[in-house]
Amino acid sequence: MKLLLLGATGATGQQVVGQALERGHHVTALVRTPEKISQGNERLTVMVGDVADEQEVAGAALGHDAVLSTLGSGKSLTSDIVGRAVDALIPAMHEAGVRRLIFLSAFGVGGTERQASPVQRFFYRTMLRKLYADKEQADRKLLASDLDVTLVYPVALTNRPLTGTYRVGDRFDFQGMPRISRADVAHFMLSELEHPAWSGRTAILTT
Ligand SMILES: NC(=O)c1ccc[n+]([C@@H]2O[C@H](COP(=O)([O-])OP(=O)(O)OC[C@H]3O[C@@H](n4cnc5c(N)ncnc54)[C@H](OP(=O)(O)O)[C@@H]3O)[C@@H](O)[C@H]2O)c1
Repeated sequence: MKLLLLGATGATGQQVVGQALERGHHVTALVRTPEKISQGNERLTVMVGDVADEQEVAGAALGHDAVLSTLGSGKSLTSDIVGRAVDALIPAMHEAGVRRLIFLSAFGVGGTERQASPVQRFFYRTMLRKLYADKEQADRKLLASDLDVTLVYPVALTNRPLTGTYRVGDRFDFQGMPRISRADVAHFMLSELEHPAWSGRTAILTT
């Protein structure tokens, strides 16, 4: 398939690029820092642009089968990039005629906080409060849009290797601070692209 990836230079984004190419997909990466993409591949196209600019995103999405997003805030705890990107992305995808979207958000956002353990909830309500408020608004807009969206809600991320062994569900009763690797999150996003099972829903991922 031909997929447009937002956030390709990030830690999870790089996992998606690598695994997508291994699975035979064509990847267009819309990035602001192209020098962070080290790998070359004839099925990888790097476009420089602004993910919060509707026209640039629409232009990049044209001719693709799906959009995947692994956008995040980097080290910032106050960034509103996710909300701004979603405000551009929804009309941009309509304009480009692309409906399928697999969007990485986070466990603990919105109503999922109720399933969190006390230690998880502590982080969501303190350090991550602003970022999660931005994500919650963005996720609500995505689910209310007529895009065919899968929201991906992993627990805390690690850089450990791909296992392909993780659990996906919409209800968990978490204890402590569970983790999942970015490689496994990328694996789920691509599996969901190829065999949709969570369309219009929020998939919580954990080991
Ligand atoms: N860390 C966790 O434990 C955890 C748990 C659950 C969910 N998540 C979520 O998973 C997602 C991915 O996390 P990650 O650690 O892989 O992210 P990351 O390494 O911080 O990557 C973030 C990506 O977003 C891009 N980005 C940030 N600000 C931007 C801006 N203003 N304009 C354009 N692009 C921008 C970055 O581009 P540059 O490379 O150019 O900066 C990068 O490609 C995030 O949404 C995060 O909240 C994280």
